[in-house]
Amino acid sequence: MMGFQQLDGVRRVLIASANPLFGRGLERLIRQQWQGRRFEIRVVGTMEETLALLESWLPDLVILDYDDRSLDRKRFMDLFVSGNRAMQVMLVSLQESGSVVVYDRRVLTPSQAEDWLSLSEPSGFQSPSSGKEQSFSMKHFAIAGSIVVVLTLATNYLLNTIQILPLQASVQAQPIDRLFSLQFMLIAFFFSLIVVFMGYSLIVFRQRAKDESEEGAYIKGSTGLEVVWTIIPIGIVIYLSYLGSLALAETRRVDPQAVEVKVVAGQWFWRFEYPQYGITSDTLYLPVNRQAHLRLTSLDVIHSFWVPEFRVKQDALPGENLERELRVTPTMVGQFKVRCAELCGTSHAYMESPVVVVSQADFETWISEQLQAIGADPATRGAKWAQTNGCLSCHSVDGSPGVGPTWKGLYGLTDHELADGSRVVVDEEYLRTAIVNPNAQVVKGYPANVMPANYQALLSDQQINDIIEYIKTLR
Ligand code: CUA
Repeated sequence: MMGFQQLDGVRRVLIASANPLFGRGLERLIRQQWQGRRFEIRVVGTMEETLALLESWLPDLVILDYDDRSLDRKRFMDLFVSGNRAMQVMLVSLQESGSVVVYDRRVLTPSQAEDWLSLSEPSGFQSPSSGKEQSFSMKHFAIAGSIVVVLTLATNYLLNTIQILPLQASVQAQPIDRLFSLQFMLIAFFFSLIVVFMGYSLIVFRQRAKDESEEGAYIKGSTGLEVVWTIIPIGIVIYLSYLGSLALAETRRVDPQAVEVKVVAGQWFWRFEYPQYGITSDTLYLPVNRQAHLRLTSLDVIHSFWVPEFRVKQDALPGENLERELRVTPTMVGQFKVRCAELCGTSHAYMESPVVVVSQADFETWISEQLQAIGADPATRGAKWAQTNGCLSCHSVDGSPGVGPTWKGLYGLTDHELADGSRVVVDEEYLRTAIVNPNAQVVKGYPANVMPANYQALLSDQQINDIIEYIKTLR
């Protein structure tokens, strides 16, 4: 097959190649062909080992990997042409097709030797079938490429039709959704690219029955490819961050006509204050097609304001100077829900409040209704303050147990037992202290430091009086 049979008298074979498959494969081939002969084979992978063994071991036959660029070709070419020692040198090239091309002194033409020395691509030596192979692999690329295109379109269509995103109900949602649809397209493309080439290779290039050929071609490094697969993703990432910053700027565009809303988050409620109107509400009412300027703050831990239909999201942070703002221009009349998007304690999952988007006329009606409701009776107002300031999240008004003591029947108790064992009378003074300085008189059976101690700052004296009036009615 390869002419190794004629190499009578060879006792020591040295195979040099940086490709371990080359060495092992050739060794096995020679052992098959030379069955019954006495000889030794050594396989080495580096130039230094090769040179060392040339000196110390004195092989009769040196087989060099024709395609190994790490060999010192000049040095071997000298050995090769001079042939002044009793040593045969062979160049062996393993072709991708599985055939083996052997050059020894007799068949190597001077121009082929030149080629090898000049490190040029061994194209001139390839088997005549290489042209056919080229078009064969182009065919595979064309087929796989077409499948990638089709699968990309199908995946993108699927991603767009299953409605991953909720309703789009704000101006700020538009640039964000444009980014999403671009991302869906990219996701569809890369998914298809990877899955198709992987699946295609697994199916088309699988090992068929009776196919004895072993490993595939040995490919070591490709600078061009590495540059390409570094530059392209960097370019994509930079371009996406550019688009992202444009979209961010668009969501923050200021409208001087905006409705001002102060959003107060607490464990576990939302409160919405309209400083322009002096109204406080536990439902966020917004006029359609008009920007709302939300200023967010928290009474306790970090919460996060998020109405999925509006897309934009912002944290509410505790602390005087840590107010955050968010701009939302609703485009759709309807009912939505604000959720808390930051894990903030045991009832985080239930920290929801209604968001009602109405026409400008309905918004004004609602405002005047709210202003009327504030009027009249202190206890009614107190009920409202208790509701909108989160008191009722912890204190029930019907006697049922809560985080804090129930308000029902609280006022007028004469032997209210505190954690320190003392008994007090529940009068107005007691209630006022309980509101503004809750840790001064912790009730027996309830932990200290649970109720926020900042209600003095949050509520006006009038509001505190109203709440006390309200508690007095719950007898
Ligand atoms: Cu507030 Cu989660």
